[in-house]
Amino acid sequence: MSFTIIGTGAGLPKTIQTNQDLAQFLDTSNDWIVTRTGIEARHICVTESILDIALEASVNALENAKIKAQELDLIICPTLGGDTVTPSLACLIQDQLGATCPSFDLNAACSGFVYGLDVADAYFSRNNDMKILVIAVDAMSKLIDWQDRATAVLFGDGAGAAVLAGGNSLKAIQLTAVGNQHALSIPWPKGNHPLTKNRSKPEPYLLMDGPEVYRFAVAAICNDLRAVTKAAGIELADVDYIIPHQANLRIIEGAAKRLKIPLDKFVMRVNGCGNTSAASIPLVLDELNRNGQFKSGTRIALTAFGGGLTTGACVIEWA
Ligand code: ACO
Repeated sequence: MSFTIIGTGAGLPKTIQTNQDLAQFLDTSNDWIVTRTGIEARHICVTESILDIALEASVNALENAKIKAQELDLIICPTLGGDTVTPSLACLIQDQLGATCPSFDLNAACSGFVYGLDVADAYFSRNNDMKILVIAVDAMSKLIDWQDRATAVLFGDGAGAAVLAGGNSLKAIQLTAVGNQHALSIPWPKGNHPLTKNRSKPEPYLLMDGPEVYRFAVAAICNDLRAVTKAAGIELADVDYIIPHQANLRIIEGAAKRLKIPLDKFVMRVNGCGNTSAASIPLVLDELNRNGQFKSGTRIALTAFGGGLTTGACVIEWA
């Protein structure tokens, strides 16, 4: 026994920034961004806090699952960080929802949602009679240098949630990590201890070697999808929807070509939201769920890659 997904939810800030908007203050163009990434617009937290969008997704998921917050046994919040270092975002979500269960954040960058599912699965193996909220949220707009055109155009803010109950939907799951600071990192703020404050340190903004992340991501998607479908005892062709981390259309085109599967097997929504880090997969999951695209027996593969470097993939059969 593992779990089944009984509800999903999404939370997006209302301010939308298009590529044309970015070209007003960055040396870039809609054409460059669309051709290189497939991204046309992203949502940015301007009036909302990170907690606000996390709560929106959580409340939507609980309503979709038809359960009350008080019934939750655990809240796992995959995130690079909320509005405060402490309390954790998970604890603030718990408070605002009126839940009383243990709650913690989990940092696996863009792979966070799949990491969260794996942790939840371990809890279900201990006690199958639980309800767990996995609420993945990131506000990348607060972590990137808005003067760096190479990274600023790629990201957006968002939150996606799933409510899990005991069941048998998870057919296979695999996580990996290869510690690597060069490809992608976000340094801590400098601090102001008198003995350290003058030491040179990078600004606390995202640093990325784009081509290295690209190569890593394409290889990770191919290896992980092959591994989890094999572990689930199915062929890739048997999967109805592959929901990849929504970083960049070209990464997915590269992976589809290498795997020799049609590009339209991958569900891509990067055009409207950019890369929302841990939230990107559950945002798509919620859209397909609410559109009624999942029936009993629908096979879904999730595949994620992110800072760490981390990867995670799984096969889920909708119940
Ligand atoms: N607008 C216009 N020109 C730009 C921009 C921009 N926004 N950004 C970079 N350029 C320029 C560069 O300065 C460079 O100019 P030069 O040739 O005069 O030096 C030129 O465009 C090409 O730059 P490259 O970095 O080589 O561009 P590339 O074709 O590799 O595309 C990209 C960059 C899109 C970042 C690509 O490397 C990529 O897709 N990498 C994957 C990274 C990614 O998606 N990360 C997601 C976040 S991490 C995660 O989710 C795990």
